[in-house]
Amino acid sequence: MNASPPPIPPPAALEVDDLTVVYGGSVLALDGVSLRVPDGAVVALLGANGAGKSTLLRAISGTLSLHGGSVRRGTVAFDGVPSTGRSAADVVAAGIVHVPEGRRVFTALSVEENLRAGQLGPGRHGRGAYRESLEQVHSLFPVLAERRRQAAGLLSGGEQQMLALGRALMSRPRMLLLDEPSLGLAPQMVEQIAGIVRRIHEQGVGVLLVEQNAALALQLADEAYVLEVGRVGLSGTSEELSRSDEVRRLYLGERRDQDSDGRGSRDSDGEGGGGPEAAAGLVTAGPRTLSRWVG
Ligand SMILES: Nc1ncnc2c1ncn2[C@@H]1O[C@H](COP(=O)(O)OP(=O)(O)OP(=O)(O)O)[C@@H](O)[C@H]1O
Ligand SMILES: [Mg+2]
Repeated sequence: MNASPPPIPPPAALEVDDLTVVYGGSVLALDGVSLRVPDGAVVALLGANGAGKSTLLRAISGTLSLHGGSVRRGTVAFDGVPSTGRSAADVVAAGIVHVPEGRRVFTALSVEENLRAGQLGPGRHGRGAYRESLEQVHSLFPVLAERRRQAAGLLSGGEQQMLALGRALMSRPRMLLLDEPSLGLAPQMVEQIAGIVRRIHEQGVGVLLVEQNAALALQLADEAYVLEVGRVGLSGTSEELSRSDEVRRLYLGERRDQDSDGRGSRDSDGEGGGGPEAAAGLVTAGPRTLSRWVG
């Protein structure tokens, strides 16, 4: 998408090459996907329902087999070392931590027990490191310090998402794989989660972000990929993708009947037109409503 000669790419912490994944031996979910996440970068992954976003995160984190999936072709490499076939624990030890869809916390355990569980993964940090990680997580999420002894199941949805993020940070990852962290949260909580992703980024942690709020994802990310039925349809810098007609139409909720305040429509069907003026408003202001193409 870029006319000028490409700059020499920085070494990618995570490289996915020609990845092809099937479920149950026959359902093709990813078909030759290649993607890179440079060290410390935020990369967004957009796409309609069923495009294969969660599958890609599972393939990277070594959790595909838990879902009946397997890699048929291609590689995933971290720092140039192929990780295909590694166990989920080995991937965590290598510094990649996956926060799956649906903020899975241990509801019967206390907030602090959940955080301690996150620290167990690599098993390479001592007590001092545990305290330090806990303090860092508490400074990012003060509510988790206030509620430390409470059962995690009593937290609100947004607080549980914070706990899931905090737990992932306890193992001091170099890269987080975040699957729809804002799904189902009220706008104010979405803003808070976005702020957290920014702070995580500032601390030098890379993020591969699957996000149903495409405008938000493009604001947070340096680069983005659009998955279309198991293949990469578009990729580029977030700025380039924000200008792409296709992304505007399908993922930023641009429609002919766009509201005057520039908000996208929840039920955007991908048929809308809409002028550049409306799109300009969308990209800079960012719609608050969910605006994913549900194709
Ligand atoms: N455990 C599974 N067994 C069989 N097929 C699956 C399984 N999980 C996903 N699939 C299929 O693989 C394809 C990709 O699904 P995936 O969940 O990765 O999409 P997604 O982009 O994350 O969608 P969404 O936006 O709805 O979360 C879909 O066709 C889906 O039906
Ligand atoms: Mg998904």
